[in-house]
Amino acid sequence: MNLKDFTPRTIVEPFRIRSVEPIGFTTRQERKKALEAAGYNPFLLRAEDILIDLLTDSGTGAMSSSQWAAMLASDESYAGARSYFKFERAVREITGFTEVMPTHQGRAAEHILFHSIDGAGRVIPNNTHFDTTRAHVENCGAEARDLPSPEGRDPATPAPFKGDMDLAALNALIDEKGAENIPLIMLTVTNNSGGGQPVSMGNIRQASQVAKKHGIPLFLDACRFAENCWFIKSREPGYKSRSIHEIALEMFSYADGCTMSAKKDGMANIGGFLAMNDAELASRCRSFEILMEGFPTYGGMAGYDMEAIALGLYEAMDERYLEYRVRSIEYLGEKLIAAGIPIIRPTGGHALYIDAGRMLPHIPWHQYPAWSLTNGLYLLGGVRGVEIGSVMFGLQPDGSEKAAALELVRLAFPRRVYTQSHVDYLAELLIELNEQRESLGGYSITRQANVLRHFTAVLEPV
Ligand code: F0G
Repeated sequence: MNLKDFTPRTIVEPFRIRSVEPIGFTTRQERKKALEAAGYNPFLLRAEDILIDLLTDSGTGAMSSSQWAAMLASDESYAGARSYFKFERAVREITGFTEVMPTHQGRAAEHILFHSIDGAGRVIPNNTHFDTTRAHVENCGAEARDLPSPEGRDPATPAPFKGDMDLAALNALIDEKGAENIPLIMLTVTNNSGGGQPVSMGNIRQASQVAKKHGIPLFLDACRFAENCWFIKSREPGYKSRSIHEIALEMFSYADGCTMSAKKDGMANIGGFLAMNDAELASRCRSFEILMEGFPTYGGMAGYDMEAIALGLYEAMDERYLEYRVRSIEYLGEKLIAAGIPIIRPTGGHALYIDAGRMLPHIPWHQYPAWSLTNGLYLLGGVRGVEIGSVMFGLQPDGSEKAAALELVRLAFPRRVYTQSHVDYLAELLIELNEQRESLGGYSITRQANVLRHFTAVLEPV
């Protein structure tokens, strides 16, 4: 036999399915009723009425057979459980940080960290704060300052590392405020609020040099660390032949600590951690952890959660998995771009963002075009995404309304859950909805809370 090598173009999902969960097929009429009953707010839908749920990639992933097996064999001791030491070893091996504190999810790590530093009247810069991070920064009396790179502010133009921090702006902020008024610098990898865009190793290294020069600790918000490392490997010169683990170790080596939601690249349904090298700060954090989360060897998690994460952190660094994940989102992006649908370019590590402001120019911002697109996706095809636009950000503390910077719909992909046929369906649905876009109308809010209104608001079509 004289067969030539076969280089497939299809990326095979690097798993076979061992346990299945039915998804919710509904009729158009049923979806119409469900959406009405939910006050035209997709957050208030029942998940069983949804066919493909892209609300978030957080805690929604599928665990592996190894994770389930390890969970059964967990140690549920209150203190000093074997499962804790496995978890601690994995976090140390991947991040290099010596002090490891388990938490029930990412925001708990943020709560403990920002409670344990003196933030009052000071400023904390970040490439872009995620909303819970911002809330915890503000809760400790500090100002949360976003310093995205100029490229990151331009949705339509592709660039390899649009998650980078604007280092000139960081230097200017330190000059203006004085290093003593900046208790911490944070970098979010990947930059979720900025479109799931990666931060380059060069940018992390330089941010670390600035931080060191001024004696300011640098912390990573490491929720999607493995996806960020994959982009470094595939896009940044010098990293092609390095393993994801090696890249992760280098990335974390520039930081003094991290907060982590293990619901993302921990491949778990719940959990997180706070890790660092400063033993003195860690000891203050642990005192508060006991109050808020639990004893420092479980911190709000069951032993089985720690088992799942100890393996999940490694599984998230598997290159075949990362290639499949990033490529399937990119593949959807290519189909949408070819159909003329405006998206944030390039596609991100965990999500694709549709620019509904540009797709639906006939709906003014105060009638919430991205919200309308989200509801259109559900009505026409049973898919749930999330609005990141003027419903989420428009309400000002004085009760007035202001347009959000962009009107986006985020389609976030749970890990290892959907296959290529789901993605093909999504493309078909979006292309059809784009053709019918002029039939989509605006919304008005009839009831809302005065903070984080998007979670509970009730709306009606205008
Ligand atoms: N930091 C980032 C960058 C996040 O994306 C999230 C959560 C958190 C911190 C908080 O972690 O949910 O475990 O408390 N993001 C989810 C999302 C909710 O849908 O983007 P958590």
